[in-house]
Amino acid sequence: MCGIVGYIGTRNCVPVILEGLRRLEYRGYDSAGIALVRDKEFFIQKKAGKVSNLAAALGEAEGTVFATLGMGHTRWATHGEPSDINAHPHWDQKKRIALVHNGIVENYQAIKTKLLRDGHTFLGATDTEVLAHLVGVMYDECRDLPTAVRLALSEVDGTYGLVVIAKDDPGRIVAARKGSPLLIGVGDGENFIASDASAIVEHTRKVVYLDDGEVADITTSGVRTMTIDDVTVEKPIHQVTLELSQIERGGYDHFMLKEIHEQPETILNAMRGRLLVEEGDVKLGGLQNIIGRLLSARRLILTACGTSWHAALVGEYMFEQIARIPTEVEYASEFRYRDPIVNIDDVVFLISQSGETADTLSALRDAKTKGATVLGIVNVVGSSIARESDGGVYAHAGPEIGVASTKAFTSQLTVLALITILLARVRGMSRERGQVLARELATLPDKVQTILKETEKIRKIAEEFKDAKNFLYLGRGANFPVALEGALKLKEISYIHAEGYPAAEMKHGPIALIDENMPVVFIVPKDGIYDKVVSNIQEVRARRGRIIAVANEDDTDIDELAEFVIRVPRTYGFFGPILNIIPLQLLAYYIAVARGTNVDQPRNLAKSVTVE
Ligand code: F6R
Repeated sequence: MCGIVGYIGTRNCVPVILEGLRRLEYRGYDSAGIALVRDKEFFIQKKAGKVSNLAAALGEAEGTVFATLGMGHTRWATHGEPSDINAHPHWDQKKRIALVHNGIVENYQAIKTKLLRDGHTFLGATDTEVLAHLVGVMYDECRDLPTAVRLALSEVDGTYGLVVIAKDDPGRIVAARKGSPLLIGVGDGENFIASDASAIVEHTRKVVYLDDGEVADITTSGVRTMTIDDVTVEKPIHQVTLELSQIERGGYDHFMLKEIHEQPETILNAMRGRLLVEEGDVKLGGLQNIIGRLLSARRLILTACGTSWHAALVGEYMFEQIARIPTEVEYASEFRYRDPIVNIDDVVFLISQSGETADTLSALRDAKTKGATVLGIVNVVGSSIARESDGGVYAHAGPEIGVASTKAFTSQLTVLALITILLARVRGMSRERGQVLARELATLPDKVQTILKETEKIRKIAEEFKDAKNFLYLGRGANFPVALEGALKLKEISYIHAEGYPAAEMKHGPIALIDENMPVVFIVPKDGIYDKVVSNIQEVRARRGRIIAVANEDDTDIDELAEFVIRVPRTYGFFGPILNIIPLQLLAYYIAVARGTNVDQPRNLAKSVTVE
């Protein structure tokens, strides 16, 4: 979703901002802009389309533009189409201040009506332009930028990550946050502001995370942080551990392919120092203080969106089957508005790669208000969900840049498996049983490596089906969520319509779709319900559907039934999703490549969905 990067210091900020915007491209956007202050005048350039358009318009190659104060923005359209005019930054009526904004001003229409009555004119259709005018009005009155921002925000309903500069006050950047992440990069004689650490990590690793309701006054010499009511807040400086190599493509054609191939390592990282194979147990520092509450929990609730919701569905199988704890899964977007019954002895897990998804964050706050214990399974360290949870477990997948989630999913599943073993042990599972599960979990990175050797075969299958109009994905038990996730991956990046179903549900409707043009992907491991899934395969065969099977290495019967077979090693049923999703990620990837789509930044999608 939208990205922000800003700079104040002594060097030329243009390359800093453009490079920062490039690092934010993965978040998904449709226009970009920059505002610089030079000799107390604004230089603003905004372009629909990619950051490269903006850089070309700026004459980046010639390096002619120089400024030591500036900010840039990538916009993902909500109010108003993607266009040069609607791109940020926006000015106020007198063009004295410029502003970039992530989030939504919900009462912008009421504010706009009042401003129109006062003679303001608006160039575009965005809520942000209205906010810029409002800050401008306040600035006219008080002539102090931090005060103007605070006064304006006291009239605003909605969410924001906001950065403002004034041309006649070139010594400061003012930033404010409510519901949309912002962090300040602390440098030596220079400071940065960004919506995501990846935009500034090559310049500084020292960051201050702004919290909701806070405003920052950033100058070259320091940062003052205050509440909207002007109460000073002392903020700790955190050290970001992100490596530059982690946010570069490293020789792969796409981030998504790199991230798929990183999975043996990222799954291992999720277990490292946590899985105690000999003890048949698990140690999770982030749950240590609330283990008592987990022990006495009568019910677990897992809530998330998208791919993370699919991880939650697998988690439900693990928690119920192994730890024997009643578990419910719900979309965070539904949870937050349903006024669900949440008891103080419930434990609510929020699963999120970014840790910033607006719906998931709201579900967390709702559950917290109702007295439940809230725990995060989050990938991005220091993100809002991580900071607002009572405890939790980081996924440790490293930065995920491809918009379609891959390695974060398998890391989430690994963390859920760890929590399952932990819960089962504290609730009485024997050490021996724990050892058996822990030993098997420890083998998964090598097994993923084995699956990655199927890549060439999967690429050929992708060639065969690249022109398909529809796909069906079917699986049972813990592999039903894998079917959902396989279908989601395909539609996100190839734009082929795909649906996932529990295999046995097919005959209740989707079977009407089966003909010789319908590819059907079956996830069919040799488990207790193998024969049942084989019956479903027969039903598809009888209607001439084209079958692609993800099956175990030693399954010799499947060759007779499926047109294409992708082999995966055996594992326990509830760990199976960690392996079975890998070929489906690769299948989606190679189909998208064959169709020539923008794999890493698919149309209309954003990496982190910070609006409702
Ligand atoms: C799919 C995908 C999205 C996210 C969803 C939740 O590939 O990436 O469906 O899973 O937007 O995002 P997080 O996990 O960041 O809360």
